[in-house]
Order: sequence, then C-alpha cells, then structure tokens
Amino acid sequence: KIINIEGKQKVAAEIAAKVKDGDIIGVGSGSTSYLALVAIAQRVKDEKLNVKAIPTSVELSMFCSKLGLPITTLYEHKPDWLFDGADEVDPDKSLIKGRGGAMFKEKLLISSSEVSYIIVDESKMVDKLGSKFPVPIEVFPQALPYVEKELKSLGATEIAIRPAKGKDGPIISENGNLVLDCKFDEIGKSFERDIKSITGVIESGLFIGFDVNIIMASNS
Ligand code: A5P
Repeated sequence: KIINIEGKQKVAAEIAAKVKDGDIIGVGSGSTSYLALVAIAQRVKDEKLNVKAIPTSVELSMFCSKLGLPITTLYEHKPDWLFDGADEVDPDKSLIKGRGGAMFKEKLLISSSEVSYIIVDESKMVDKLGSKFPVPIEVFPQALPYVEKELKSLGATEIAIRPAKGKDGPIISENGNLVLDCKFDEIGKSFERDIKSITGVIESGLFIGFDVNIIMASNS
C-alpha cells in the first residue's frame, strides 16, 4: 500500500513508532533513511529497548555506532522489518535505488526481510521508471567492456561510469566494484532479471515486483 504522511520528520516518527522490543531492523542508506534512524535511536535510548540494526552501508554503520544502536549481520539474524529510501517509485511500486551506490546490500536486505517500508517524498513518484534517474548497475571492474556491450544490446542509450568525489577516477563500491549509471528508453518488466544475468553484473538498482510498503512524505 501507499501511505501518505506530511513531511519527512513525521514519517521518521511514524517509522520509529513501529519499533518493538527485540526487533532486528534493516537500515537503508540515503538521507531519508538517516532521519528515520535518528528517530529510532532516540526511542531505543528513551525506552531502553533491545533492538539490533543491520545497516546497508558503511555510512549507516557509522551512524548506528554514533547513535548507540547495536549492529548485527545477516549471518546472525534475519531482519523483522526494514526501512529504506528510493530514487524513483512507479505506480506498481517498482523502484530505482542506488544513488548512494548501496543497492546490492539494499536488495539483499529487502529480499531477506519480512516487511519493507520505503520512505519517499512526492518528487520520487514517477509514471515510468527511468524518467528522472538512470539505472545504477554495480559491475566487477574487469567485466566492464563485456557488460557495456551487453547493456547496449539490451537497449542502453547512455552508460556513464560513476565518478568518485574527492579522488580521481571512478567510484569504487564497498564491494570493490564500479557503478555504471545507465539510461534506457524503456524499462521492461524483465529488465531486472536481464541485467542481472549479464556475467560481471553484481546487482542493479531496479527493484521490480518486491512487496514493499511505500510511505510518502507529502510537502503540503
Ligand atoms: C542508496 O543507495 C539509495 O538506494 C537511497 O536509498 C536512495 O538513493 C534514496 O536516497 P535519499 O533518501 O537520500 O533520497
């Protein structure tokens, strides 16, 4: 379902209200997830709840430690629920994620979690996936020439190697890979599978057909 709530702070409070003692919570990456994390950490602290987080990026792991939220891993626990952001959401609740480059771990968590809440604002809602954002694709570096060729034959119109900020050269993901930002005129239903089946592709930012709850922070 799609739930509409005013303002990201209110959504963060709504997410924090879902926390129950003993919960294992998947923590998505990005600025919206951060707001929810802060609200959760406050509740955990105030009510001395026993909660563990499974973060989807080094960035969020650091925030969890800073906020005093204990961390666990997928080896030890399965998330009871998770919250995360998204870059685009279409009317079928399919998503583009990965502006932060964390889509591999994010997809792993969404696949492992019982319940997923995706927090967005109105600007993320699109009629058609790919209208505003390119599709991020994490690629094993030596597979780059092959993957580029295969993506072109899938209809990619533009393929950009995501540049790093603060250093020369490309961004290197937490898994040691490149991130490509890839534009397609049309993103078909089978695209997530088609892209993933290219040898050398670790994961794409297409999340099609996942059973997610969209929580929308409206600006009004
Ligand atoms: C991180 O890799 C992403 O999937 C984020 O969840 C997504 O880019 C949304 O980020 P914001 O909440 O910062 O817009």
